[in-house]
Amino acid sequence: MRAATVFKSFIFLACSISTCYNARILASIPTASYSHQVAFRPIWKELAKRGHEIVLMTTDPMEDIENIKQIDMSFSYDIMKKEKYNELVTKKIEDPFKFYVKFVAIFKKIYFEQLRHPEVQAMIHNKSEQFDLLMIEVVFPIHLGLVERFKAPLIGLSSLDLANRFHNALGNAAHPVLHPDTAIVPYFYPLTLKERILSTIAGAISTIYGNYFLGPSLDSELQKIFGEKCRKMIDLVGEVDMMFMNVNPILHSIRALSPRTILFGGGFHVENKTKPLPKDLKRYLDNAENGIIYFSLGSNVKSHLLSDNLKKVFLETLSELPYKVLWKFETENLSYKPDNIWISKWFPQTDIFKHPNMKLFITQCGLQSMEEAIMHHIPMLGIPFLGDQPVNGKILENRGLGVRVSPDSLTKEIFRNAIEEVINNHLYKINLINTAELFTDVEMTGLEKVVWWSEYVIRNKGAKILKSTGVPFYQYYMLDVMVFILLMILTFLFLSKKCFSLFMSCIFRSSKKYKEQ
Ligand SMILES: *[C@@H]1O[C@H](CO)[C@@H](O)[C@H](O)[C@H]1NC(C)=O
Ligand SMILES: *[C@@H]1O[C@H](CO)[C@@H](O)[C@H](O)[C@H]1NC(C)=O
Ligand SMILES: *[C@@H]1O[C@H](CO)[C@@H](O)[C@H](O)[C@H]1NC(C)=O
Repeated sequence: MRAATVFKSFIFLACSISTCYNARILASIPTASYSHQVAFRPIWKELAKRGHEIVLMTTDPMEDIENIKQIDMSFSYDIMKKEKYNELVTKKIEDPFKFYVKFVAIFKKIYFEQLRHPEVQAMIHNKSEQFDLLMIEVVFPIHLGLVERFKAPLIGLSSLDLANRFHNALGNAAHPVLHPDTAIVPYFYPLTLKERILSTIAGAISTIYGNYFLGPSLDSELQKIFGEKCRKMIDLVGEVDMMFMNVNPILHSIRALSPRTILFGGGFHVENKTKPLPKDLKRYLDNAENGIIYFSLGSNVKSHLLSDNLKKVFLETLSELPYKVLWKFETENLSYKPDNIWISKWFPQTDIFKHPNMKLFITQCGLQSMEEAIMHHIPMLGIPFLGDQPVNGKILENRGLGVRVSPDSLTKEIFRNAIEEVINNHLYKINLINTAELFTDVEMTGLEKVVWWSEYVIRNKGAKILKSTGVPFYQYYMLDVMVFILLMILTFLFLSKKCFSLFMSCIFRSSKKYKEQ
């Protein structure tokens, strides 16, 4: 079985190497978030290994790698700090619209500052700079504007599912009942009537806001950088040659996709190398007879910014349990920290997951972390905060991989019960083992797919042939056709009525005549 897979991969590599020349690729991952960056790293490494030359605009530069030139955009994190981004996402504000507007404002600032960065500007204005392929992340499609300068085939990337208005532009199914915009309305099937109504309204508002308010304001700023002829962003999304999305059909709900949309989810970013644990950490894990709980809220939600009440719930509950706890915590001191909790700014997460004493992962439901836990069969307790996390939490529950609790209404009792349930119910482990097997039982790994299709686009200088024919809204919903048919029916009814009354009056008149005779 394994030999066959290795053989297959070898054939795959050999074939593609022989048919694809070495290309120059410009890649940009503007979102300042570690998880967005790591989702794509294996792609850059693999493309570089195959001889392509990559210029990578990244907020989290890697070590030096042959064939990869990195443009360091880590200053983006300073902007986030100044704008209090972590406070925004950790301490939720009540009004979701206000939250969204502030959230967008921060990312808009970051994305445009990146495009105005001297190194990026030098590249844009260097007339001899040419690329064979652009690979650009789309959370907000601002950096797609680079295609106006470099005029090369364009691949969009996303480390999570896209908003419905972008799916619409790509010709993918974006029905609000089948596919709620989960960043705004985190519903998972089956939807109740109330959820269907809210999803439809929220979808319409988000599309109108995106296309008629947010879009135009970003478009005009983009034109200042790439010239007046720069297309609208929503059109740039619709005109990408391909879109690669880190969506995993085993976890996410199934959506009808056009062939230029490639799903590469499935946890291929999870490194399969076991690195030895630091000595003190290893000793701590080895000595945890009752088991280990690993607690991390990822890189956006900061544990030290949590409300005092939530911190109290966590600390008191965990101190009363017999488990040892590793908590990824950003500051050095945490008042009232019990002895069974070890805090640190960073832990080697996947190496800890490999330890046999691991019992539970308490997570904010970031997709990458969830995939890592699934691959290592670690049951989860989800405490989702923002973005795709709430819906990921529902997926976690729906697939029986763990339990989800809300940070807004968490009490000691709920937290404790959830922990005990996940640790003591063996069903979660069984579901995890099955899911991990499904992750790896694929015709090609996500990485192989992405590399193959990237080289397809390079070889064929684009993939416009795979683009579905888009039609305007009124045609898609057949409004014109229905109006026409309705008019026909009305005309028919009207004429029938006219004929009928004419006929009746004839009969009436003739019968009158008859009587008069
Ligand atoms: C312009 O781009 C070319 C091609 O990448 C490069 O060789 C050259 O050094 C660049 N010029 C400047 C001034 O950066
Ligand atoms: C990691 O490697 C081991 C041994 O080489 C293998 O048994 C296991 O299936 C691999 N796991 C993944 C996720 O690829
Ligand atoms: C926490 O640590 C910081 C330095 O890391 C120190 O300045 C501060 O006084 C400490 N606070 C408490 C409550 O110990």
